[in-house]
Amino acid sequence: MAKEVVRMESICKEFPGVRALDQVNFSLQAGEVHALVGENGAGKSTLMKVLTGVYKKDSGKIFVDGQEMEFPNVKTAMDQGIIMIHQELNLMNHLTAAENIFIGREFRLPGGVVLDHKKQNQKAKELFDKLNVSIDPTVRVGSLSVAQQQMVEIAKALSFDIKVLIMDEPTASLTDDEIEDLFRVIRMLKAEGTAIIHISHRLEELALIADRITVMRDGGYVDTVSAAGTSVDDIIKMMVGREIFVTKQQAKDFEGQPYTLEVEGLNAGPSVRDISFKAHAGEILGFAGLVGAGRTETARAIFGADPHTTGTIRVHGKEVKIATPKDAVKNGIAYLSEDRKRFGLSLPLDVDANISMASMAYFSAGGVINFKKSHQNSDRMVEQLAIKTPSLQQLVKFLSGGNQQKVVLAKWLTHNSDILIFDEPTRGIDVGAKSEIYKLMNDLADSGKTIIVISSELPEIIRCCHRVLVMCEGQITGEVVGDEIDQETIMKYATQRKM
Ligand SMILES: Nc1ncnc2c1ncn2[C@@H]1O[C@H](COP(=O)(O)OP(=O)(O)OP(=O)(O)O)[C@@H](O)[C@H]1O
Ligand SMILES: [Mg+2]
Repeated sequence: MAKEVVRMESICKEFPGVRALDQVNFSLQAGEVHALVGENGAGKSTLMKVLTGVYKKDSGKIFVDGQEMEFPNVKTAMDQGIIMIHQELNLMNHLTAAENIFIGREFRLPGGVVLDHKKQNQKAKELFDKLNVSIDPTVRVGSLSVAQQQMVEIAKALSFDIKVLIMDEPTASLTDDEIEDLFRVIRMLKAEGTAIIHISHRLEELALIADRITVMRDGGYVDTVSAAGTSVDDIIKMMVGREIFVTKQQAKDFEGQPYTLEVEGLNAGPSVRDISFKAHAGEILGFAGLVGAGRTETARAIFGADPHTTGTIRVHGKEVKIATPKDAVKNGIAYLSEDRKRFGLSLPLDVDANISMASMAYFSAGGVINFKKSHQNSDRMVEQLAIKTPSLQQLVKFLSGGNQQKVVLAKWLTHNSDILIFDEPTRGIDVGAKSEIYKLMNDLADSGKTIIVISSELPEIIRCCHRVLVMCEGQITGEVVGDEIDQETIMKYATQRKM
């Protein structure tokens, strides 16, 4: 029998207007990878924050190594080797990798005043070596990729005497290769006896890494099952309490229909090379490709977020000059960025304001805002996307990660533009809500809008799109339509370098 390191019994936690945890049980053994799954707002992050002393529980019991215990703060939990890497990474961008790892515990020269950077960098390098990643300890964290930042967080965790490592959606924005790397590190830690809690919405990956899976629903505990012998469908059923049917996009005939967006010979740096394509009203056009293929860069160039050197863009048949995002919006183009924290949300504002803020012109007449109209729209969005919030007045910073995502999506679905570009629209969003989002996209397309979807999840592309353009190294290498849209064909083009 493996040793039980953590046991949580009947944990309850309420926030104003929200019962976040209701009698939740959880147990963790040394050397196991325990996955924690559930829909957005199910209570996963909250449960782990209760464990690590971020929040105080209202009732219930927590045992660590058999001793009843409640950590008054994160530092005490860390001192006991229980460390959480949060959904939003907590690093200081202006500090170096080594400074982040040893923040508050800096190495000092004899005398205790002057910092010993050399020793600190050396120690950081040892940690990176152990993880088998090549990160320069002296580089500023802000200039690292998300995957590398995650490794810095893991290195920081390793610098403690680690017993339990909690990772809240570590793979949400990683590429397949980076996920491989992360799993290698997880397996290494596991072999050393570390217990790992892995929170994820990517259910397919659980079979690769998890030993046991605990499912939560609506703040409640559903069940704990062994990963072997549990299918993704079984997990989904436990998560949402119903079956979700996966259907493929219906073919649509655009023959003879006008184009809303025409891009010709667009060049913008090494990642956007001679991009030409046309999109119809009513069409959902996908951009597939491996990470780094230039899809986001192409979208940013069309949107005016980055400058382009050559190329023409026509909207409704008329050539337009797009030098800034303002120009793009004026011409009816909206872009939902993959970097939502920076470009998508106003955390200190409420749900209503966030959903409405990009569409104020649409809700106003003669300079007067019609709040009734905007509230109605927000209400409808909250219902359709199943945004879990006690009211429209809840501040967005209090929503769960996935529900924040849905708010950004609601904002752009509200925006009355003809051309909507969605970059990784469902990252961090649970399976049930995904279906709703696909349905909304279909409705928008049926109402005559053009939708461009950039996604690294092939099943998403296959499910959503009428047509798919595949990119590789900054160029379009293939076009796939209707029935031909499948994994193999897309992957073939995605890895096919153009000479
Ligand atoms: N500080 C807070 N104040 C008020 N409500 C909160 C707070 N933190 C979480 N909640 C609410 O508690 C519920 C559970 O949130 P939690 O963040 O634990 O969900 P989650 O399972 O991690 O979801 P996701 O997959 O979207 O990250 C949600 O309804 C959320 O809005
Ligand atoms: Mg969460």
